[in-house]
Amino acid sequence: MTKRIDGRARADRLVADVAAAAAQLKAVAGLAPGLCAVLVGDDPASQVYVRNKGKAAIAAGINSFQEHLPASASEAELLALIAGLNSDDRVDGILVQLPLPRHIDPQRVIDAIDPGKDVDGFHALNVGRLWSGGWNRALLPCTPYGCLLMLRGELTDLAGADAVVLGRSNIVGKPMAALLLAENCTVTLAHSKTRDIATLLRRADILVAAVGRPEFVRGDWIKPGAVVIDVGINRVSAADGKSTLVGDVAFAEAQGIAGAITPVPGGVGPMTIACLLRNTLIAACRRRGQAEPQL
Ligand code: GUN
Repeated sequence: MTKRIDGRARADRLVADVAAAAAQLKAVAGLAPGLCAVLVGDDPASQVYVRNKGKAAIAAGINSFQEHLPASASEAELLALIAGLNSDDRVDGILVQLPLPRHIDPQRVIDAIDPGKDVDGFHALNVGRLWSGGWNRALLPCTPYGCLLMLRGELTDLAGADAVVLGRSNIVGKPMAALLLAENCTVTLAHSKTRDIATLLRRADILVAAVGRPEFVRGDWIKPGAVVIDVGINRVSAADGKSTLVGDVAFAEAQGIAGAITPVPGGVGPMTIACLLRNTLIAACRRRGQAEPQL
């Protein structure tokens, strides 16, 4: 039997804990954390993500702000907007939705965010803290941290486990590898140039798939009993002419082989938003010299 990991239920619990801690911060210090999402352009998927993040923040007692620049906005305009948010005391967390229009350098934009407000955990200071062992002072990238929380829920001890991370993006693959290393896993970071991925995966007690290719991982690549976290969200056409969402793992094939697997949707997605709220609360506590909850 393969267990279906309920990311939505796990995320609901984390959001409830964040909401309780935000209420406590309000009661003790009269403070409400604030999150500002910045959207550049009109990408429909990004608009949905930003809207959902705003709704989730409000539901958890976090003030939500949104800034929207046209696709034609210059890099200098975006940097000026970020400078304003860095010095705005109502804002504890700044999130610039990626991808940005091609004429804007995302790295320059991320580097301009106050690292203490970098709730995506993408700034070089937070990346460096994550890799160099200072990770309890870093803000951790939301998707990989959410994956780690789900893995901790499935495995009592991650130490010594063989973990394979598929995909080397700055948003998921690289920070996921760092987090698993910090948990004392033996980590392999595999990518599009890796040879014989199937053989590599058959050793993996933990598999995190983040390659953005629909059902790339086949059932017979999975080690029996492995815990599989599927980060992929791929839209594919269905038989009835409509479209449907599938992950990077062939979910049906994994049944009866994997020990546990996250579904798509309803797995990693809700946890990412919950971790964003968690990071905003942590950033607010640190910035304002309040004790930070362990979430
Ligand atoms: N686009 C896709 N994933 C993310 C994310 O985690 N953060 C931001 N800012 N943009 C994204």
